[in-house]
Amino acid sequence: MTGEVLELIMHRDATMTEDALRKYYTEDEDLKALLDAERYSLFAGGKRIRPMLTLEFCRMLGGEDAAALPFACAVEMIHTYSLIHDDLPCMDNDDMRRGKPTNHKVFGESTALLAGDSLLTGAFEAVASNRAVSPETAVKAVAYLSGCAGRYGMVGGQIMDLEGEHKTLTLDELLKLHSLKTGALISAAAVMGALAAGVELTDPCMADVVTYAENIGLAFQIVDDILDATGDSRELGKNVGVDAERNKNTFLSFYSVEEAQFYANRLTEEAVSAIKKYPDSEILVAVAEWLATRKK
Ligand code: IPE
Ligand code: IPE
Ligand code: MG
Ligand code: MG
Ligand code: MG
Repeated sequence: MTGEVLELIMHRDATMTEDALRKYYTEDEDLKALLDAERYSLFAGGKRIRPMLTLEFCRMLGGEDAAALPFACAVEMIHTYSLIHDDLPCMDNDDMRRGKPTNHKVFGESTALLAGDSLLTGAFEAVASNRAVSPETAVKAVAYLSGCAGRYGMVGGQIMDLEGEHKTLTLDELLKLHSLKTGALISAAAVMGALAAGVELTDPCMADVVTYAENIGLAFQIVDDILDATGDSRELGKNVGVDAERNKNTFLSFYSVEEAQFYANRLTEEAVSAIKKYPDSEILVAVAEWLATRKK
């Protein structure tokens, strides 16, 4: 698949997700500050990788877009909430995100905090209210997503990241940190796509989905670390060099840029080999390969 074709598919999936996300909002003058703050970050752009994984896994496994879309929206809401909170002064204290000033810079810290809370809560409302899947499937998706987003998932990874600013982690600890803070939500995105297609969590096919997602998830954070050191802030839409400034433990604490890239490529190969036996896996293969060499 050429880069142009993949770009078109990414654009199509992003547009579908954004159209669906808009439907979760109705105007309320009394709540204007909150709704504006949520939508400011939600519609600021972003690669929409996680919702794309949900949609494409559902399609590859024979499901309908209508079943996957609420799950895709939910995972993007949680991701956006995690970015708003990640940028707060008490966390990474960043002032640029998705090419714009960070949420708290525009709306203030308390509104940014609440915008994140509201996106997190709204995500579970979207999953539980998905009428295009059975109630049983919706419950499984709620359980899976909450497991990946919460204390043994993304939030757990964020505490390891923050505590790591004051100590040197081992490579095993860093691998756990990266898998939790970034890999877990990427796994949730992929698994919920498969759930939307009617695949059971116990189906051997789900193990392939998880293998793919865990490998690209770790590779994704390794590339994020590389881009923080070598990337272009205009293209990335966020400041660079901030990991070193904040004494973060990253892959570059252990490896050179070349070695870290080699590691990410190896993980990408693992991911691809888990799914390439499925008919119609070209898009997900191309996504994994693009993510390993992305510049944004
Ligand atoms: C950034 O995620 C935060 C990490 C988990 C590394 P993305 O690189 O997917 O950010 P957007 O959604 O494109 O802005
Ligand atoms: C953030 O990791 C992962 C989240 C759960 C938001 P980073 O702190 O490395 O993400 P960026 O580099 O600010 O996007
Ligand atoms: Mg962070
Ligand atoms: Mg950060
Ligand atoms: Mg980073």
